[in-house]
Amino acid sequence: MKALVLSGGKGTRLRPLTYTTAKQLIPVANKPIIFFVLDQIVEAGITDIGVVISPETGPLVKEAVGDGSRWGAKITYILQEEPLGLAHAVLTARPYLGEDPFLMFLGDNLIQGGVKKAVADFAREAPQALIMLKEVPDPRAFGVAVLDGQNRVVRLVEKPKEPPSNLALVGIYLFAPAIHQAIERIRPSWRGELEITDAIQELLHLGHRVAARRIEGWWLDTGKKDDILEANRAVLDAYAKADIRGEVDGSSRITGRVEIGEGTLVKNSIVRGPAVIGKNCAVVDCFVGPFTAVGDGSRLFNVGIEHSVILEACELKDIQRIEDSLLGRNARVCRSGDGRRALRMFLGDDAQLVI
Ligand code: G1P
Repeated sequence: MKALVLSGGKGTRLRPLTYTTAKQLIPVANKPIIFFVLDQIVEAGITDIGVVISPETGPLVKEAVGDGSRWGAKITYILQEEPLGLAHAVLTARPYLGEDPFLMFLGDNLIQGGVKKAVADFAREAPQALIMLKEVPDPRAFGVAVLDGQNRVVRLVEKPKEPPSNLALVGIYLFAPAIHQAIERIRPSWRGELEITDAIQELLHLGHRVAARRIEGWWLDTGKKDDILEANRAVLDAYAKADIRGEVDGSSRITGRVEIGEGTLVKNSIVRGPAVIGKNCAVVDCFVGPFTAVGDGSRLFNVGIEHSVILEACELKDIQRIEDSLLGRNARVCRSGDGRRALRMFLGDDAQLVI
C-alpha cells in the first residue's frame, strides 16, 4: 500500500501568507500541517509515500519535508505542472502508483484519530474505494455524497449549488487501482479540473463498490484563516504537552499544558494552556491565553493574546488584547507611544486588518 499526499495548489484564500509559503507548510501548534498528515500516514503503517508538488511551492515543500527519514518513510516527489484537479494529480502520479492500492491524503486536511482504522478496514473489506464523510452546515464548498438506507454510496457531486445531502467528502480517500480506469473516462468540470469526485462517481457507474465511513470527530480543512485557527485549537487541545525547556522567572505563572522551547525567556507573565511558545522567544509582562501558538524567535512585550497563531520572528508590543489572529513571519504590531490616535499601517498584499 502506498500513500499519495497532495501538496500543490495556490492557497489563494490564505494570502498573503501563501505568497511566500505553501498552505500545507503553515504551522499549527508550531508544526507544519503536512507534518501531521505524514504522522497520520506512517501511524497507519504506510511508509512508501508520494508527494505531489507544484512548480511554485514544490521546492519549499521538498526543503521542509526532505526524504522522509524523519518519519522512517521513503518519499518520492511528483511534479504536477498545473493545478488541473485532484484526479489529474492521480493521473500525474500514475507511474509512481503502478498497480498498488493507495491512500490519498490532501496535504491540508486532518482528521481526529488519524487513518489507521480506515486503512485496516479498506485492506480487509477490499472495496474499490473508501471515502470519508462528515456532516457540515454548508456543503456547497465540498464534494457531497448521497447514501441509501443501507449506508451505500449512490451518488456523488462536486460543489453542488443545491446540495443533495449535508455529507461532505473529506479530503482523505482509499483507492484500488480501478480508480485509474475511472479517471481515464472523466472530463474536466466547469471549473476546468479533473475532479476526484467525478472519478468516484464513475467507479459507481462501472459497477464498483465504494464504501463510506462517517467521521464523528473533528475534520480540519485548513484552507482559510479561521480554519487555521480552528486547526490550531483542535491540535493544541489534542496534542499539547506540559514541557518547559526555556526559562520561566519566579513572577510568572504557567498553568495547563504549555510547551516552552529552549532558549525562551518568560518573565512576569501568565501563560495558560493549551499553548505552545517556540524556541528563542521573549515573553515579558504578557498574558498568553489558551489556543495560542508562538513561533520561534518571536518577541512579545506587554501583550495580551489568545486563540492566535504567530509565526516565527514576530514582534508584538504594548497591545492589550489580540484574539483570533494569524500573523506571518517577521510581522510587527506595536503601539507608537506618541499619544496620537492614528493607525500607521504597512500591510502586505491581501492583508486583512479588523479594527
Ligand atoms: C477538494 C475536493 C472536494 C472535497 C475537499 C475536501 O476540494 O474536490 O470534493 O470535499 O477537497 O477538502 P478543493 O480543495 O479542490 O476545493
